[in-house]
Amino acid sequence: MAKPIALAADHGGFELKEAVRAHLDGAGIPYIDFGTHSTDSVDYPDMALPACEAVVSGQCDKALLFCGTGVGISMAANKVKGIRACCCSDSFSCEYTRRHNDANALCMGGRVVGPGLACQLVDLFLSTPFEGGRHTRRIEKLMALEQR
Ligand code: RB5
Repeated sequence: MAKPIALAADHGGFELKEAVRAHLDGAGIPYIDFGTHSTDSVDYPDMALPACEAVVSGQCDKALLFCGTGVGISMAANKVKGIRACCCSDSFSCEYTRRHNDANALCMGGRVVGPGLACQLVDLFLSTPFEGGRHTRRIEKLMALEQR
């Protein structure tokens, strides 16, 4: 049984999270939805933390995170040790952040990306493997920065 995907959004990303959630339902991909569950205003660091902790603990495989721009929630996610989050709105960055950065969190903006593109990017992110090789050394150096 595949590990679930962690979903989280603030109010600015709520509707896009719901679109992606429906997409995951359709594809039979398991997930845990850490909220938010409405368009009432919430703070993106509060929403990012439990979803990112679920990835770092091994409960979830990867996180899909949403706010208005995707930027704030990616900044919050990247403060959590063990998270490599990428804010994406194009397929090249999305593919290569998996291939080269072994990203474990994809962040998108509900005020930036439409639901069709978001679902395509989710599919790409979840299906693209890490290439390893020379990129492993770079990931090790990247993660060592957390100890400074
Ligand atoms: C909330 O209005 C907005 O600031 C937030 O969703 C996000 O875009 C921050 O980066």
